[in-house]
Amino acid sequence: MVALAGIADRSLAAPSPSARVESLLARMTVAEKIGQLTLYPDDVRPTPRPINPDINAQAEARERAAFQRSEIAAGRVGALLGGTGVALGRELQRLALSSRLGIPLMFGADIVHGLRTIFPIPLGLAASFDPSLAESTARAAAEEMTAVGVHWTYAPMIDVARDQRWGRVAEGSGEDPWLTAQFAAAYVRGFQGDDLRSATAVASCPKHFAGYSAAIGGMDYNSTDITPRELRQTYLPPFKAAFDAGALTVMAGFNDIDGVPASGNRELMTDILRGELGFAGFVVSDAGSVEELLPHGFASDPADAAAIGFDAGVDMNMGGGLYKTHLPGHLASGRVSMERLDAAVRAVLMVKERLGLFDDPFRSLDLERERTGIRTPAGLQLAEEAARRSVVLLKNESNVLPLKPGARVALIGPLGDDPAHMDGCWAPWAKVGEAVTLAAALRERLGERLTIAKGSEINAPIEGGIAAAVAAATQADVVVLAIGEGQDMSGEAKSRTEITVPAPQQALAEAIAALGKPVVAVLNCGRALALEGAVRDADAILVAWFLGSRGGPALADILIGTAAPSGRLPVSFPHRSGQQPFYYNHRSTGRPQQPGERPFFKARYLDAPNAALYPFGHGLGYSRIAYDPPVMDAAELRRGGSVTVSAVVRNTGARPVDEVAQLYIQDVTASITRPVRELKDIQRITLAPGEARSVRFAITEADLAFVSADLVRRAEAGLFRVWIAGSSAEGEPASFTLLA
Ligand code: GLC
Repeated sequence: MVALAGIADRSLAAPSPSARVESLLARMTVAEKIGQLTLYPDDVRPTPRPINPDINAQAEARERAAFQRSEIAAGRVGALLGGTGVALGRELQRLALSSRLGIPLMFGADIVHGLRTIFPIPLGLAASFDPSLAESTARAAAEEMTAVGVHWTYAPMIDVARDQRWGRVAEGSGEDPWLTAQFAAAYVRGFQGDDLRSATAVASCPKHFAGYSAAIGGMDYNSTDITPRELRQTYLPPFKAAFDAGALTVMAGFNDIDGVPASGNRELMTDILRGELGFAGFVVSDAGSVEELLPHGFASDPADAAAIGFDAGVDMNMGGGLYKTHLPGHLASGRVSMERLDAAVRAVLMVKERLGLFDDPFRSLDLERERTGIRTPAGLQLAEEAARRSVVLLKNESNVLPLKPGARVALIGPLGDDPAHMDGCWAPWAKVGEAVTLAAALRERLGERLTIAKGSEINAPIEGGIAAAVAAATQADVVVLAIGEGQDMSGEAKSRTEITVPAPQQALAEAIAALGKPVVAVLNCGRALALEGAVRDADAILVAWFLGSRGGPALADILIGTAAPSGRLPVSFPHRSGQQPFYYNHRSTGRPQQPGERPFFKARYLDAPNAALYPFGHGLGYSRIAYDPPVMDAAELRRGGSVTVSAVVRNTGARPVDEVAQLYIQDVTASITRPVRELKDIQRITLAPGEARSVRFAITEADLAFVSADLVRRAEAGLFRVWIAGSSAEGEPASFTLLA
């Protein structure tokens, strides 16, 4: 596991520039240098379904593909984003090599959870609570994307997301900094692999640096008011973990932090990023994020924005040539120094060199691999395992799951049989129809025992739809209600004020529930939802996120019991939307409402408890689990030493179970108010029916450190409580004292 090393610790030493890079730099003209800092959306091979087609509109007017070809041939483009395809990729690379200095292009793309073999959205994969699984899926995605000529992926997204109204929760690993840091390092290892020069290695690009997810009101692109201490306590640790894992690049965010936009924030983008966190690669802007210093009101015109962003430390401009247009003038006037320019170009050239592009510019541009490296059986098998392990069982009243053998099943709802809503919000290369739906998988397994009725659209009723669904349900023994969000309801620019199941589907659920038959709700969602009425009261609830290419078979096997659910919530499911932002590791306040206390004049709302409906870390299997109270091996922890906490975990049911034992610690009294619990480690164990096993965790001072008021991470002496539990809201604590 990745220890959240002190923010002030330095990261892996940066490799020193090679003689080749220095020699190139010495020969490059200013135009060629700025060219290396220019990243265009690929107009020669545009992304099939760009997430934000307006990105191209932000670029300077140009004859698109013809313009790019001429600029590449002149050695004035460093990288292209969003394009794939080997034949044209080889043509563009040949053009680049034909330029005066022959510096190869880097081809980048947003391949966050798969190119054509689509894995669960990252929020779903986080529910596996297994970073090694993320490393495997990232490795598989790297093999697939390099088969079509991609060298660089704009992933992992590692913004700690505490407000489920924010649509980009879907792309990250949830609300907890420690879990997000584990996944961040795993994704980087998976994408970059063991050998950066390998034809299957891609440069990773953790994003968005930093604090983007703290958008006020959960509204995407909104301002953030993060304190310097909270920035280091909550939002930077995943980036530290990613850099320590060797991430070659990082992406600057759109947001402002306490009034200073990230993409123009020198303290953030240079002092903290390179000084405190030891980042040694290059910084790429987000799409137009330097240009947007204007609408932020932080730059007076595009030239001003270019100077501010570049001087802040944003090396490469993802957009339409802002640096190309304005940096020459700033160099001439002295507003930007040649030293700063050379530092940025050197960082880009070093990444290209580390990827082996100078020695083999056509690496990952292999026509044979393009034919054979897509949607491989091994990749699809991994996608199915990842999907299975991402599903979270929230409740299972009277063991309605697994479905009884021979039962007649009605699959009701708009998301059981819609191939256009399987892949999630960041799957621009997915081909609609390639993912196997739940309906297709259930049809295969249940045959005639399955009836299907849509009942409603995702966001609109169907004339007669509910009546048809009720008729289908009436003939069945049990209803599987496939409902939730469309994949276009989460992701970038997809914030919602009400994080509920859309009303037409809620109406459908109420009508089905009125029949009094067992109902299993299967939720497609890119965020935690505030469940209401018949959805909340369903007999069983499975969270299916967006599971990707093999989501249907994975879900179907869990429903019929040939597989068991093992996922855990990486985000808290609230009672109400109005509780957002809600996260388990909140500070105590001076008026916490303790269990059983009268709820008056306590930190809570009038119309909802200050708790989750389903807490972070929660997830059921098909057996019953019991935790004995934890036991410390010592009552005191000496500086430099360690204590061990253990607990016996029991499978008291009749089926095997995969359990995730979670270690939580509370710093009871400190020089700043501390969270009521913080996840510090996890252990996955498989228990046979009736089996009991002791789970042990070692605790050291590093696990207790926090960012103090003076911005230094340290552990303070005093009392600590410890839980080993199946979620952030369960268990009895043990305690120990850290000595001075
Ligand atoms: C988008 C996103 C970023 C993505 C980039 C390129 O606006 O914010 O995550 O990598 O543009 O598509």
